[in-house]
Amino acid sequence: MLFRSAAVSCGGEKVGAIIEVEGLTKVYARGIVAVKEVTFAVEEGEIFGFLGPNGAGKSTTIMMLTTLIKPTAGRAFVAGFDVVREPGRVRLCIGYVSQELAVDDNLSGRDNLFLQAGFYHLPRGEARARCDELLKMMGLYERADDLVETYSGGMRKRLDIACGLIHRPKVLFLDEPTVGLDTQTRHQIWGYIKALREKYGMTIFMTTHYMEEADALCDRIAIIDRGVIKAVGAPAALKDRLGGDVVTLRFKEAPAEKIREAVAALEGLAGVRGVKHQDGDCFIVARGGGELIPQIFQVLQPLGVGVERVTLKRPSLDDVYLYYTGRELRDETGSKEEAMRARMLMRRVRGA
Ligand SMILES: Nc1ncnc2c1ncn2[C@@H]1O[C@H](COP(=O)(O)OP(=O)(O)OP(=O)(O)O)[C@@H](O)[C@H]1O
Ligand SMILES: [Mg+2]
Repeated sequence: MLFRSAAVSCGGEKVGAIIEVEGLTKVYARGIVAVKEVTFAVEEGEIFGFLGPNGAGKSTTIMMLTTLIKPTAGRAFVAGFDVVREPGRVRLCIGYVSQELAVDDNLSGRDNLFLQAGFYHLPRGEARARCDELLKMMGLYERADDLVETYSGGMRKRLDIACGLIHRPKVLFLDEPTVGLDTQTRHQIWGYIKALREKYGMTIFMTTHYMEEADALCDRIAIIDRGVIKAVGAPAALKDRLGGDVVTLRFKEAPAEKIREAVAALEGLAGVRGVKHQDGDCFIVARGGGELIPQIFQVLQPLGVGVERVTLKRPSLDDVYLYYTGRELRDETGSKEEAMRARMLMRRVRGA
C-alpha cells in the first residue's frame, strides 16, 4: 500500500486514496482491544460507510482518523497527512461530527456556526456568507436566530453537521449521523450528505448500524465487528457475494411428520442450497428462486402440506451483515427469523 506520496493533499492535487489505513490498532486501558489491525482505503469523493454492531470499534476508528485519540499501532493518512505525526494538518482538512451532539443550546443556530468559523479564523464577511449558505442548505435558515434549546432533535443534528462543514473540509467524518432520528429526518440528512458530495466533491466517511442507511447512501462499506474488518465492498457486490435468492414459506397447520417430509422434499429440489424450518416458517436459499416457486408447490401438494404465504427476495444488506457479524447468534434480542437466516447464510457461504 502506498502512503502519503499517493494520497491527496489538502492543496487539492488528486493522486489516489484520500484515506489510507494500514494495520490500525487501538488497545484501551486494561487491555481492551477496540480496533485490531484494520486496513482499508477510501477514494476521493466516495461515501464510505463503517458498519458494525454496538461496541464494534466504529467510533474508536473515527477518533483515530480525526486525531482525537492516538493509535496503539499501525498507520493512517488522511488527505496525505499522517494522523500521528501531522495532526494539525489533518484537522485543517477534515470535519468531524461526533456521535453525541456538540452544539451549544444557549446560543442561536447562527451563533453556533459563527463560533465555529472563528476557530478556523475565517474573515467575518466570509464567515457570514458561509453561515447563511449552510443554514439554507440544512433547512435551518428560518430558525437561524432562535436559541438551539428550542430546536428539535433533527434540527440540532443538522446544525451539528453544518458546524462540521464551516471550513469546507475535504473529508467529512460523521459518527452515526442519524441515530435516534425519525424516518423523515433521516431521509433529509441522507439528502444533505449526497448533496455535499455532489456540490463540493467531498469525501464522506460515516459510521452507522442502520443497514438501510448504508445501502441508500454508501458507495462502499466496511463491515467491522469486534474491532476486525470482516468485509469491504459496494453494497451490491457484497449482496452478490452471498449469491442466490431467499424464498420464505409459511406452512399451513400440518402434522410434524408431514412437515419433516416437506422439508426433505424441498431440500432435494435442484438449485436449493439450504432449507431451514422453524415453527411453521421455512427459509430456502436457492439459485433462481423465481423458477423454484412452482416446483415448491408441486412437491408440497402430494404431501398435503399447504402454504399460507410465500415471499421471494434477493439477499439484502441485512443478510450480508448477519452473515459477517452473526449478530443475533450472540444477541438474545435478535428475532428467531433473523437467527435462522444468519445460520443458514453462514452455512451456505462456508459451503460455497
Ligand atoms: N475510553 C475507552 N476506554 C476503554 N474502552 C473503551 C473506551 N472507548 C471505547 N471502549 C471499548 O472499545 C470497544 C469499541 O467501542 P466503540 O465506541 O469504538 O464502538 P462503536 O462501534 O462505536 O459502538 P456504538 O455503536 O455503540 O457507538 C467497546 O468494547 C468499548 O467498550
Ligand atoms: Mg460509536
